[in-house]
Amino acid sequence: MSLSKSSVQSAEKRKILVTCALPYANGSIHLGHLLEHIQTDIWVRFQRMRGHETYFVCADDAHGTPIMLKSQELGITPEELIAGVREEHMADFADFHISYDNYHSTHTDENKAFAEEIYNRLHANGHIKTRVISQLYDPEKGMFLPDRFVKGTCPKCKSEDQNGDSCDNCGETYSPMEVLNPRSVVSGATPVLRDSEHYFFDLPAFGDMLQAWTRSGALQEEMANKLAEWFEQGLKQWDISRDAPYFGFEIPNAPGKYFYVWLDAPIGYMGSFKNLCDRTGIDFDAFWQLDSEAELYHFIGKDIIYFHSLFWPAMLEGAGYRKPTSVYAHGFVTVNGAKMSKSKGTFIKGRTYLDHLNPEYLRYYYAAKLTHRIDDLDLNLEDFAQRVNSDLVGKVVNIASRCASFITKRFDGMLSENIDNPALADEVMAAGDSIASHYESRDFARGMREIMALADKVNEYIAIKEPWQLVKDETKQQEVQDICSLGINMFRILMIYLKPVLPILADSTATFLNDELIWAGHKTLLTNHKINKFKALLQRVDMDKVNAMTDASKDNLAVTTEAAEPKKDKKAEKKKSAPEKTLTGEPLIDDPISPEIQFDDFAKIDLRIVKIVNAEHVEKADKLLRLTLSLDNQEGGETRQVFAGIKSAYQPEDLIGKLTVMVANLAPRKMRFGMSEGMVLAAGPGGEDLWILNPDDGAQAGMRVK
Ligand code: MSP
Ligand code: ZN
Repeated sequence: MSLSKSSVQSAEKRKILVTCALPYANGSIHLGHLLEHIQTDIWVRFQRMRGHETYFVCADDAHGTPIMLKSQELGITPEELIAGVREEHMADFADFHISYDNYHSTHTDENKAFAEEIYNRLHANGHIKTRVISQLYDPEKGMFLPDRFVKGTCPKCKSEDQNGDSCDNCGETYSPMEVLNPRSVVSGATPVLRDSEHYFFDLPAFGDMLQAWTRSGALQEEMANKLAEWFEQGLKQWDISRDAPYFGFEIPNAPGKYFYVWLDAPIGYMGSFKNLCDRTGIDFDAFWQLDSEAELYHFIGKDIIYFHSLFWPAMLEGAGYRKPTSVYAHGFVTVNGAKMSKSKGTFIKGRTYLDHLNPEYLRYYYAAKLTHRIDDLDLNLEDFAQRVNSDLVGKVVNIASRCASFITKRFDGMLSENIDNPALADEVMAAGDSIASHYESRDFARGMREIMALADKVNEYIAIKEPWQLVKDETKQQEVQDICSLGINMFRILMIYLKPVLPILADSTATFLNDELIWAGHKTLLTNHKINKFKALLQRVDMDKVNAMTDASKDNLAVTTEAAEPKKDKKAEKKKSAPEKTLTGEPLIDDPISPEIQFDDFAKIDLRIVKIVNAEHVEKADKLLRLTLSLDNQEGGETRQVFAGIKSAYQPEDLIGKLTVMVANLAPRKMRFGMSEGMVLAAGPGGEDLWILNPDDGAQAGMRVK
């Protein structure tokens, strides 16, 4: 891979501006987002440690239809919605120790000013075209419908209830106008076609510039390949306007027309940085003007490459600003080998993680798996616990805990004058350059492997020397002090190397060692130096807490036939694990508003009070119980078998004889363990806190629920 400017060593002080993609302001931060923020934060902390002038900014992406509709649904203004979500996001990032210099919003004066300026310049330079287009319009709600807000029957395979732009059943992509029996997700109304004038950015005019930029060596190989594909397909004009009602900025001299959210989103990088500059006196222009010598990096996920490697550089070029030094894309997080799923409890919010586990575990695990490539990254929760325990607790911190107590108890906290094993010390000190180059090139996994290999060597050395044996021999005291002093020194250097990943552990290490752990410190040793009493620095990952976290991540309404996912969804899940954001449509909704159902839909559900006549464990199923339900509580009467995912909350024997509510007319579903012929209703956050709905004792089995 090419390193471009970034391979320059730390002797020269660089000016670096770094961003993460701006999270949408309508959903919570989850462990997928956090991969990006942790990756970038590690890189930024490394650059700062090496003495470069580095700024790290982000913001919430606050505009667009989903945010407008969500605020309406909640009965608040969009401004109120985005203000609350921004607070939540900022707290989440702070608690994962993401060291933003500024976390702003796209709905701000700075961003409006830059969006207007860039648009005006593009317009003046002839890069904006207008054209009337025909689109689906919701006559009831009075708004044009983004693709994702239209549903209907797939024009190809005729499967019902498909998205407006693609079919989950057959994988076909199409225009929402081709959908059969289309309806608006917003109101349920049948959309009509309506004309409107739209504003387009003339992307094809930048084709040559973009091709040259792609070949400049600044991009990852996979990204350059992707771009080559897009060039081959031909660049298209980009629709940058949306009609009112829309939550965003109005386009200058175009009443009722708004900038599409993706126009002002990347401009939000400038807006956030400008806000920082205005508060602190940093020179904004030095970073953004055409001939800027500063480096500019955008860290993003693979689904938004198109926006960052085509539209964004072209907009900057067309408006007379510098282009990014590089755009670095990462892959997607999967959990336990699959797309994050609410029903499996693997759609884990940052806050839920923090409620149960130390953020530095996740920082380390991601670091240990991240490369400079765009591959997906699997967070396997067993492996996560094992890896953190074996590397951080078992290897790194272990060095300190083996050596510290002797230094404290026997030598009054003083490290010795003498270095016991200079060859080992040299090796650990010399690894700094190579580890630095891995940080620089974002090959964190390689860096972590190298650090752990050194930790192994130090542990071996201590194990061979056995200071705990020598200490019993009064004549060997100097040797014990020398061995343990070397151990502590090696621990210190390893913690310098790990500091970008583990800032809090590094802080407590600094306190323990009376040393600041600056990067250059890896070339020095502490001799004749007083350290403090050792306190446990890091707890082991407790698998019970990991499980409590996934339990707490499960949907509140536990779908009791959880193991039985319809086939169709499985396929969709697979397809969507490598998503690419729709280019014509709006942002996907993270946290979709459930579609409103009509009374008729509800009336179709046959809810019955039934008696649980038998309940038993299901072999090899860790969540399921097999229930036999009597529909009429008559000996020999009608019974149903239902598999319910409530094992975490109930012992089978406690359920027998109880009444519960079931959906009696749910289509039977074949599961691994047999047929499930209905569903019992349960509610609660999950785990032990899950209650099957049990009606008053007075109820009679077989009664319909009113
Ligand atoms: N608002 C846009 C970005 C605008 S940038 C000018 C957006 N927001 S997002 O909230 O959907 O995603 C924010 C970032 O998180 C993106 O880089 C996206 O790729 C990343 N991720 C979202 N889910 C992810 C995973 N499951 N795994 C890894 N990264 C993921 O897109
Ligand atoms: Zn289809």
